[in-house]
Amino acid sequence: MSSANRGVVYKGPGEVAVESIAYPELALGNRKCEHGVILKVVTTNICGSDQHMVRGRTTAEPGLVLGHEITGIVVECGRDVEFINQGDLVSVPFNIACGRCRNCKSGKTGICLNVNPARPGAAYGYVDMGGWVGGQTEYVMVPYADFNLLKFPDADQAMDKIKDLTLLSDIFPTGFHGCVTAGVGPGSTVYIAGAGPVGLAAAVSAQLLGAACVIVGDMIEDRLAQARSFGCETIDLTQDGDMADKVEAILGEREVDAFVDCVGFEAHACGCNHGKEAPATVLNSAMSLTRAGGEIGIPGLYVTEDPGAEDEAAKQGSLSMRFGLGWAKSHSFHTGQCPVMKYHRPLMQAILFGKVNIADAINVQMITLDEAPKGYADFDGGAAKKFVIDPHGSVPA
Ligand SMILES: NC(=O)c1ccc[n+]([C@@H]2O[C@H](COP(=O)([O-])OP(=O)(O)OC[C@H]3O[C@@H](n4cnc5c(N)ncnc54)[C@H](O)[C@@H]3O)[C@@H](O)[C@H]2O)c1
Ligand SMILES: [Zn+2]
Ligand SMILES: [Zn+2]
Repeated sequence: MSSANRGVVYKGPGEVAVESIAYPELALGNRKCEHGVILKVVTTNICGSDQHMVRGRTTAEPGLVLGHEITGIVVECGRDVEFINQGDLVSVPFNIACGRCRNCKSGKTGICLNVNPARPGAAYGYVDMGGWVGGQTEYVMVPYADFNLLKFPDADQAMDKIKDLTLLSDIFPTGFHGCVTAGVGPGSTVYIAGAGPVGLAAAVSAQLLGAACVIVGDMIEDRLAQARSFGCETIDLTQDGDMADKVEAILGEREVDAFVDCVGFEAHACGCNHGKEAPATVLNSAMSLTRAGGEIGIPGLYVTEDPGAEDEAAKQGSLSMRFGLGWAKSHSFHTGQCPVMKYHRPLMQAILFGKVNIADAINVQMITLDEAPKGYADFDGGAAKKFVIDPHGSVPA
């Protein structure tokens, strides 16, 4: 068996590099992981969540091996793995979960109590998420494999749809969760803030859930065009004007049933100030645009510390929200990591049975491991693409 490994490493603000790294062990420091497996990575995606770190907007330290969106083939099983076998092709939920704590037992795998000594919840290759090594690599270790992994029923069939299935590790479930928590159902009108990969995945999910009209807002025209390509309405937020007027022009009503924030704390102001950051702007729009009694899904990421924030309060994660408006309208807010395991199996079935074309909708672009730094730069520049790394050249063209 090979003992070499390479991966994408965070070098400091604005810089990532592909470097030789240690071959994974069934351990994290002193913590034995006989419940884990080693995967040969088949696909691993670059995420907007990685960009927060790479832009220097978190407390991530240089040297961190990146990557939490992983699909791979099992090449080694720990002693205590019972139901996953060598050769299985599997999707890895980005949340690391023990399967044994009270949160895991109630399906809240995004806030597992046993996998991160610092706080509830863990992930691969992420600041404050337990120190687990990332998977934008050739090989990676996945702990609690029996609990975490989703095995594809037929590996050959799965390879035919791997560009879709690779999105099950994070953004398809995340977009879907955003819509489910926002109460999207048949006939809903939905506003999705952000046309990045998560926003587009939420838009596809809203359609899958039966929404009557899906409106996507962003400042990047190419990303809005991508949303229109599969039937969404769009709002160009570089244009001045009242958001409610723009919604009314589309729906004939000034509010939507459901609102999904797929932007997070690096949100920009709308209109002529769109070059400027305004971290609470999407949350404030959510309260003004969502009907009374409506729900607001917030998969967009908010942080407890933002060293790059423009004001002192935001550096501590304190944002200027008009919370009284949400209170007055009896809004419900749903935050946090998506518990991927809740959704990955049904969404896999929707892909395998041809009910959804998520890879086309979000414009998956395959790249090699060596192209990862360019992928990061292009994604940061607002490309209307989801970059998926194929570290071993195993995906057929
Ligand atoms: N909760 C979870 O489990 C989870 C999982 C994955 C990603 N995320 C988060 O979801 C967010 C989106 O991820 P992504 O990969 O699509 O990132 P991305 O950076 O590609 O997309 C964000 C988009 O928001 C747009 N935007 C900025 N300000 C806006 C505003 N005021 N209104 C509307 N759009 C605005 C940007 O132009 C950009 O296109 C990130 O914060 C990411 O960390 C959360
Ligand atoms: Zn992600
Ligand atoms: Zn747990």
